[in-house]
Amino acid sequence: EMGLHPPEYPWPHTGLFSAYDHASIRRGHQVYSQVCAACHSVSQLHYRNLVGVAYTEDEVKDMAAEIEVEDGPNDEGEMYERAGKLSDPLPRPYANEEAARYANGGAYPPDLSLITKARHDGQNYVFSLLLGYHEPPAGVNVREGLHYNPYFPGGAIAMPKMLADEGTEYDDGTIATESQQAKDVTTFLAWAAEPEHDERKLMGAKWIFILSVVLLTAGYYKRWKWAPLK
Ligand code: HEM
Repeated sequence: EMGLHPPEYPWPHTGLFSAYDHASIRRGHQVYSQVCAACHSVSQLHYRNLVGVAYTEDEVKDMAAEIEVEDGPNDEGEMYERAGKLSDPLPRPYANEEAARYANGGAYPPDLSLITKARHDGQNYVFSLLLGYHEPPAGVNVREGLHYNPYFPGGAIAMPKMLADEGTEYDDGTIATESQQAKDVTTFLAWAAEPEHDERKLMGAKWIFILSVVLLTAGYYKRWKWAPLK
C-alpha cells in the first residue's frame, strides 16, 4: 500500500539557479547528531565533507576530536584508540544490521546518506514523515511497537515520533520548533545525498552564459561574412 503523497514544499534550493541554505545544513547536522544518530548512520559522510559547507575547518577538527576511533594495527601489531580526525567517517550507531534490528524490535533504521534519493519525492517525503505522526483514525488499529504515520507506506512505522519542540540545541540561536528541525534535518540529508548540487548549478549557469556569447558571436560573424554576397 502506498503512503499518503506528501505536499510539494518550497525548498530554497529547488530553483534553477538556487543553492542550498547552508545555515540550514549546519542546523540540520545538529539535529542529525543530537537526535537521529542514536539509531541511523550516514555512512557516506566524513568529517571533512562538512568543512566549508556547514562549519569551518577548526570547528570540524574539534568536533571530530570528540570521538574515539579504533585504528591500527601499530608496529606492535596492536589495535589502539585515537581521537577522530577529518578523514574519519561520522560514527555509526550499530556495528551491523543485526545489532541495529536487535535494538529496534526487529526493524532496521536505514542508512540516511541517500534517503532523499532512495525514496520517491525524497525531501518532501522525509519532511512530511517526520511531522506526520498522529493518533490513528477511528477504526484503524496499529500493531504494538508500531506508530501511525500516513506518509509511511502501510501507515504504521517502527520509528517513534522523534521530533519535539526544543529537541535540538542549535548553536545559532534559531528557535528549535518541531517543524524547524524537520526542515533543517531534511536540508542536511538532501545535501548529503547530493553534495555537488551547488557546484553543478553554478557550472550550468556558467556554461549557458559562455555558450550564449559564443552563439551570438558566431551569428554576427556569419552575417558579416555573407553580407557582400546578399
Ligand atoms: C526509519 C529518518 C531518528 C529508528 C526512518 C526512515 C527515515 C528516518 C527517513 C525511513 C522511512 C522509510 O523507510 O521510508 C529519521 C530522522 C531522524 C530519525 C531524520 C532524526 C530526526 C530515529 C531514531 C530512531 C529511529 C532516534 C531510534 C530510536 C528508525 C527505525 C526505522 C526508521 C527503526 C525503520 C522503520 C520501519 O521500517 O518501520 N527514519 N529517523 N529513527 N527509523 Fe528513523
